[in-house]
Amino acid sequence: MTIDARERNPLRDYFEGNEGATIDKWLHYFDIYHRHFARFRDRPVTVVEIGVFQGGSLAMWRDYFGPQARIVGIDVDERCRDLAPPGTEVRIGSQTDRDFLRAVKRELGSIDVLIDDGGHVMAQQLVSFDELFPAVSAEGVYLVEDLHTSYWPEYGGGLRHPGSFIEFAKSLIDHLNAWHLREPGAAPSPWTRSIDGLHFYDSVLVVEKRPRLKPMQRRTGQAARFMMHPSTGTP
Ligand SMILES: C[S@@+](CC[C@H](N)C(=O)[O-])C[C@H]1O[C@@H](n2cnc3c(N)ncnc32)[C@H](O)[C@@H]1O
Repeated sequence: MTIDARERNPLRDYFEGNEGATIDKWLHYFDIYHRHFARFRDRPVTVVEIGVFQGGSLAMWRDYFGPQARIVGIDVDERCRDLAPPGTEVRIGSQTDRDFLRAVKRELGSIDVLIDDGGHVMAQQLVSFDELFPAVSAEGVYLVEDLHTSYWPEYGGGLRHPGSFIEFAKSLIDHLNAWHLREPGAAPSPWTRSIDGLHFYDSVLVVEKRPRLKPMQRRTGQAARFMMHPSTGTP
């Protein structure tokens, strides 16, 4: 589904009218969210956001995804336990704690929409992706925001810094195209087979999942006359 930027954005409308708990978002994120999340609205989906803060964004997701959705927040801050808005849940633990994330996976099962708005430190984003991306449903979405921290040393980043999340994200482009690599030993990875598209925006990466087989190329229609072999009359 293509979302026209001039269309009303229900998330932006909610944000502008918010008189409940604080929501902390960059304004250009709302079009990105709506473009990639609209197909999950009013369906029995599981939505997980890492980073509860004051609970305001969980209330926004509750409103946006509709009554059938399960909305779960994750935060390391114990105080967030009591900040779950009605109809949402909060789990307390660190997004770098693999045992905690595995327990969350076991409890929730398949996750349809994962939003990483946690601490934005490189190790946090990388460990969370490593653990939680496989738990995202076959046609689900994994969104990581505030990727500008990949350029900031205090978060473990820096321009083209090995180990930054954005450098890892760039490497996923090679996995996406791995069917076409000619290097010896190069082979499709689980990411090649499960990622349909990588969408890079200012400070945001959206990974759209979909099971993928080896791509096929075909031609249909008539060959142009000048392409015909002069003696055989075939293309
Ligand atoms: C930017 S705020 C989240 C904002 C919220 N999603 C919103 O839109 O209003 C970041 C949150 O991440 C949490 N956080 C920081 N480090 C974390 C970690 N290692 N694991 C889980 N949450 C963490 C902080 O406690 C804070 O509540």
